[in-house]
Amino acid sequence: MIQSMRRIGIWRLLPLVLLTVLFFSFTPVMAQDEEDEDEKPPADFVMKDTGKEDWVMLSHTKHEKKVPKCTSCHPKVFSSKLGRTKETKGELKMEAMEKGEFCGTCHNGRDSFDVKVKEECIKCHSVKKE
Ligand code: HEC
Ligand code: HEC
Ligand code: HEC
Repeated sequence: MIQSMRRIGIWRLLPLVLLTVLFFSFTPVMAQDEEDEDEKPPADFVMKDTGKEDWVMLSHTKHEKKVPKCTSCHPKVFSSKLGRTKETKGELKMEAMEKGEFCGTCHNGRDSFDVKVKEECIKCHSVKKE
């Protein structure tokens, strides 16, 4: 008896479960598209996957003047969700940046200071690691 009631209960829930699954599988995609256009950029934030090096500060404010278009970075170079770039485009390794990816798209010694130059590390790795 209890067994069969449980079954009915579960089947009644099925449409709800399906809707929930659908909802969660579509929202991230939609959100991703909208973010690139409308959302105003967040304040400066700190990136902490830096191994032994000090943390990296990314300042939207400071880039705004020199890189006026969001599309110079989003979505081609970086995802517009904090921490998501490593899922969509791979870990932000210096090796990749030295080959012109991520920050190295511009910080290449031509368009701006060079990720390969030792004296320049501190410009990005500017936040003392705790
Ligand atoms: C243009 C900015 C920038 C410059 C210049 C820069 N880095 Fe980085 N570095 C980053 C970013 C961004 C990350 C990734 C942070 C994250 O994912 O949280 C990173 C990560 C790292 C990491 C950990 C990942 C890896 O590649 O092993 C090391 C180590 C590192 N940097 C060393 C250096 C050294 C040494 C220099 C100077 C020769 C340097 N960085 C110059 C921005 C920079
Ligand atoms: C110089 C490159 C660059 C430019 C230009 C830039 N961004 Fe970003 N933005 C980043 C990086 C790097 C991240 C972090 C990505 C990550 O952590 O995976 C980020 C993250 C974001 C996020 C996610 C914040 C959060 O809390 O999840 C939003 C929203 C965003 N940017 C909007 C914008 C908008 C709007 C503009 C234009 C006004 C803009 N960005 C210009 C580099 C840039
Ligand atoms: C689309 C090109 C572009 C990308 C990508 C980019 N930058 Fe920059 N960045 C610039 C330009 C242009 C300047 C200003 C030129 C200069 O001062 O050399 C700048 C300046 C800076 C400065 C100096 C800011 C100041 O005035 O004190 C830092 C620090 C910096 N970027 C860090 C980063 C980090 C960290 C990343 C990656 C997470 C990154 N940038 C990605 C173009 C870019």
